Amino acid sequence: RDSKVHQNLLEDHSFINYKQNVENVDIVRKRLNRPLTYAEKILYGHLDNPHGQDIERGVSYLKLRPDRVACQDATAQMAILQFMSAGLPQVAKPVTVHCDHLIQAQLGGEKDLKRAIDLNKEVFDFLATATAKYNMGFWKPGSGIIHQIVLENYAFPGALIIGTDSHTPNAGGLGQLAIGVGGADAVDVMSDLPWELKAPQILGVKLTGRMSGWTSPKDIILKLAGITTVKGGTGKIVEYFGEGINTFSATGMGTICNMGAEIGATTSVFPYNNSMVDYLKATKRGEISEFADLYHKDLLSSDKGAEYDEVIEINLSELEPYINGPFTPDLATPISAMKEVAVKNNWPLDVRVGLIGSCTNSSYEDMSRAASIAKDAAAHGLKAKSLFTISPGSEQVRATIARDGQLQTFQDFGGVVMANACGPCIGQWDRQDIKKGDKNTIVSSFNRNFTSRNDGNPETHSFVASPEITTAIAIAGDLRFNPMTDKLKDKDGNEFMLKPPTGLGLPTKGYDAGENTYEAPPLERSNVEVKVSPTSDRLQLLKPFDAWDGKDPSDLPILIKALGKTTTDHISMAGPWLKYRGHLENISNNYMIGAINAENKKANSVKNFYTGEYAGVPDTARAYKKQGQKWVVVGGENFGEGSSREHAALEPRYLGAYAIITKSFARIHETNLKKQGLLPLTFAQPEAYDRINPDDLIDLVGVKGLAPGKPITMRMKTKAGETWETPLNHTFNSEQIEWFKAGSALNRMALDK
Ligand code: F3S
Repeated sequence: RDSKVHQNLLEDHSFINYKQNVENVDIVRKRLNRPLTYAEKILYGHLDNPHGQDIERGVSYLKLRPDRVACQDATAQMAILQFMSAGLPQVAKPVTVHCDHLIQAQLGGEKDLKRAIDLNKEVFDFLATATAKYNMGFWKPGSGIIHQIVLENYAFPGALIIGTDSHTPNAGGLGQLAIGVGGADAVDVMSDLPWELKAPQILGVKLTGRMSGWTSPKDIILKLAGITTVKGGTGKIVEYFGEGINTFSATGMGTICNMGAEIGATTSVFPYNNSMVDYLKATKRGEISEFADLYHKDLLSSDKGAEYDEVIEINLSELEPYINGPFTPDLATPISAMKEVAVKNNWPLDVRVGLIGSCTNSSYEDMSRAASIAKDAAAHGLKAKSLFTISPGSEQVRATIARDGQLQTFQDFGGVVMANACGPCIGQWDRQDIKKGDKNTIVSSFNRNFTSRNDGNPETHSFVASPEITTAIAIAGDLRFNPMTDKLKDKDGNEFMLKPPTGLGLPTKGYDAGENTYEAPPLERSNVEVKVSPTSDRLQLLKPFDAWDGKDPSDLPILIKALGKTTTDHISMAGPWLKYRGHLENISNNYMIGAINAENKKANSVKNFYTGEYAGVPDTARAYKKQGQKWVVVGGENFGEGSSREHAALEPRYLGAYAIITKSFARIHETNLKKQGLLPLTFAQPEAYDRINPDDLIDLVGVKGLAPGKPITMRMKTKAGETWETPLNHTFNSEQIEWFKAGSALNRMALDK
C-alpha cells in the first residue's frame, strides 16, 4: 500500500495518492460520524483541510486539491492566457491540453484535419508553445476528443480531476470524480490555489437487472434525463449503485457519466468495479488496478449504510431504447412510442443524417455494435438511406477499428469517417445537404441537441440516441423506425428484421495506438517562447478588469430581458465563433445574439434605453460601454445551462455588465460570473421577473453591505415614474465577495502575490 504508482504512462512526475486520500476520509468520517458514499469519499479524500472544513451537503463550500486538469483547445486558450497573466513559472498540477474542438467536419478525416491545422495554425502554435513553456502535456490535432483521451490515458479510480469542458464527467466511467469547470477554475488549480466547490448532494441511481438486445448504456441516461429533466441534477453528484452496475463495460459507464451533464449534475460516478479493472488492463494500466485493489474497501467503495439525498431506481431488464429530442436532451421518448409522438408533434419524419461517435459514444464497443448492424444491412444489400458520419473519439479507437475492420464496414455502408475530433457535435460542420432554414431531422449518438448546435440551423430537429439505434434509423431513414418490431425490405424486396447488435467491449488483439499524437513538455523550458502576435485577431493578451467602485449602483438599464431557455450557446454561440475563443474583444461580438428578447420575441434585437433605437445586443452593450454606463441582464430559469464556457461570463464583464439577475443559474455559469467580478443574483420572488419592463431602470441596494446569505434589494423605477422593490438572493461566500471587490478572482490572486 505504500508503493509509488504513477497516475499514467506518460508522466514521470505524477503519482497516485491513495494513502493521503484515505487519511483524509478517516478524519472526515470521524468528524461526521456517519458512513460515506463513494463520491463523498473521493471528494473528501481531496480536501485541502479535512480537519477544519465545514461539510454540509448542499450548503458548504469545499476547498479541494484535484489531482489534475484537462483543457480542450477552445477553452484552453483563455485559461492559459489567464494563467499567464498571473505571472507564474509553471503549472502546479499536471495539466493536459487537447486539440479537438477547432476541427471542422467537411470532406472527411484527413482532408479536414489538414485544413483545420492550416486555419488554426496560430492557435495551435500558441497552445503548443504555451504548454511547452509552462510544463503541460499537449495532444496535437488529430489525437482525438479530450474525454476519450482522458479515459484511455489519465483517468484512474478514486481520482479527482477538473476539466474545462462540460463533459469532463465522462471519466466517472473509471470510478473517478471528473468535474467540468470554467477556465478560471482551471487557473486556480494550475496556480496551486485550492479549488472551490459547493458540497454537492448525492443522488443515488440504483440499477437492477441486466440490459439485452437493442438496449445499451446510453438508454440508461436518456431515460434518467427524462425523469430528472435538465435541471434535476443541479448541485448533485449522481452516484450509481446496485447489482446492475456490474453488468456492462467501463466505456458504457463513461457514456452515462458523460451525459450526466445534460441533467445539470456536478458530475456522475460509478464505484470501482471489475469492468474498470478490465479496461485499465486493456489500456496497459494493470498496475493501477492492482494498486486500487489494495484500497478497495477503505477508499474505492461506498461505506455500508451510506445514505443518498435521493434515490431513483432503474430496472435494466425492462429498459427499452430511447430517442431524446428535439431541441433538448430531456425530452425522452421510448422507441416504441416514437411513431405516435413524432407524428403528433409534426416532427420531420425523414432522417437526413445519422451521426455516430463524439466523446459520448465512440468506444471500441460502440463502434463494434454499430458496425454489426451496418454489416447486417449490407448482407441484405442495403446501405444507409440517410447520410451517415462517424467521428472517432481518439486516434487509438480509429486505428483499432481500422485494423479490425469496423471502419471498412462503415465505409461500405456509405459512411464518411470524420477526423478524430468534435466536429458536428459542436457545430463544426460544413453541412451541405440542406439549406439553412429548411426543416429537417438528424439523429446522433452525441449528448446535446440544443437548437442550432450541430449545424447552425434552428429548423434542424436534432435527436440523440445510442449509436446502435442511430445506425438502425439511418438504414430506414425514418424517425419512426423501431428495429425491435419493424421490418425492412432487402434489395430484392423481401422483408427482414435487423439482428440485435453484437460487439466486444474491448479489442481481443489489444488497442492499436495509431499515430503518435502526444507532445510531452521539454525538460529545459526557460528559452521556449510563447507565440502571441499583437496583430492577431484570434489571440489577445488579457488586461485586468477594474476593481469595484465601492458604491451601490443606480439607474442601470436592462440590456436584454431574455425569454425562455438561455443556454451558454445563446449567451456565447459556438460554431464559427470558436475561432475567437482567445480574443476577448472579438468574441464579445457574439454576446447574447442567440437569446430571445422578451419585449419583441426576436433574437439580437434590443432597444437602446437612451436613444430608443433597436440594434444588436453586443452593439447596444458597446454603446453603453462607450458612454461609461454599466447595465444588467434579466433572465429566466437555469440561466447559462449547457457548457463551462467562461466566455459567457467574460464577455458581459468586458462589455460593461454589472449584474445578471435571473430566476436561477446553472452552477458553472454562476461561478464563472463570480470569477469575472460580476454579480449573479436570483429573484427571491420569481414572479418579479414578469413585472420587469425593459424600459425600467434598476438600483441595487445593499451591494455595499454584500455578505454571505444576506439578500440585496432591487429597486425598479418604471418609465411612468413608479417605484417598486423586490429582494434578490445570491450565493457568494466571503472569499467570493473579495473577488467581486477586486474586480475578478484573478485580480484577487494577483493582490496576494
Ligand atoms: Fe466535443 Fe461534443 Fe464532446 S463538443 S467534447 S464531442 S460534447
